[in-house]
Amino acid sequence: MLNATVDFLKCKINENLGDFLPDVGIVLGSGLGELADEYCKFAIPYSEIPGFETSHVSGHKSRLVFAEINGKKVVMMQGRFHFYEGHSIQKVVFPIKVMKKLGVKTVILTNAAGGVNPAFNPSDLMIITDHINNMGVNPLIGPNDDEMGIRFPDMSEVYSQKHINMVKKTASKLGIDTQEGVYMALTGPSYETPAEVKMARIIGADAVGMSTVPEATVAKWAGMDVIGISCICNSAAGVSTVALAHEDVIRAANVAKDRFKTLVKEVIGNL
Ligand code: HPA
Repeated sequence: MLNATVDFLKCKINENLGDFLPDVGIVLGSGLGELADEYCKFAIPYSEIPGFETSHVSGHKSRLVFAEINGKKVVMMQGRFHFYEGHSIQKVVFPIKVMKKLGVKTVILTNAAGGVNPAFNPSDLMIITDHINNMGVNPLIGPNDDEMGIRFPDMSEVYSQKHINMVKKTASKLGIDTQEGVYMALTGPSYETPAEVKMARIIGADAVGMSTVPEATVAKWAGMDVIGISCICNSAAGVSTVALAHEDVIRAANVAKDRFKTLVKEVIGNL
């Protein structure tokens, strides 16, 4: 299926954009999809792409967008596939494998997350320095595609330090404050209990969310550089005393989106 999808996309790209192959792949998280609207040269709805699923989460569009940003050719997922939607973990990471086959060298994974570190505030941007997979599943389980990566890939530097430094420097030049930290993924779709958030903190997490880790794992395995940026949309359960609601998450992402877009645009230019 992977090769058929890649052939389909190459054909569509060629028809619409001619000689265009992306170097950079971006996954846009909840409420952060505007970058794709702003720069879209050509887009294909997921429903038309063989092997892709449809994402139904509000705050997400469901299309693959091709664009040129700051001189770089980019493919953007405007909306991702979540494990909690019932997609298999293989379907969740399928687009990352497609990006690799299209020639993408660097992926920028973004998400909305809950702040576990008490120093974080809603709408802060957190550069992901490492992650904890607490989803109970690894997307590399199953037969290994030796052409794409090895059976037991090293994960000691999933988020490349060189790129973390570059994102920090870029943000600081732009006058954008950033946090740094460890992102822990759980399956969702329920938000965490305060006890789970306490556990997350104890085991080293600064933020919790329901995505990114599967994609980062596959991207690293496949030899791509990974950059991760979380929009801290709320204080996680127990850190905050108010009940969590998806609408509040989207609202906080909205507050951060201009800063987020400015940062990501500049980061792309610096790749
Ligand atoms: N927990 C998990 N995922 C999230 C949260 C949260 O508090 N906020 C946004 N996505």
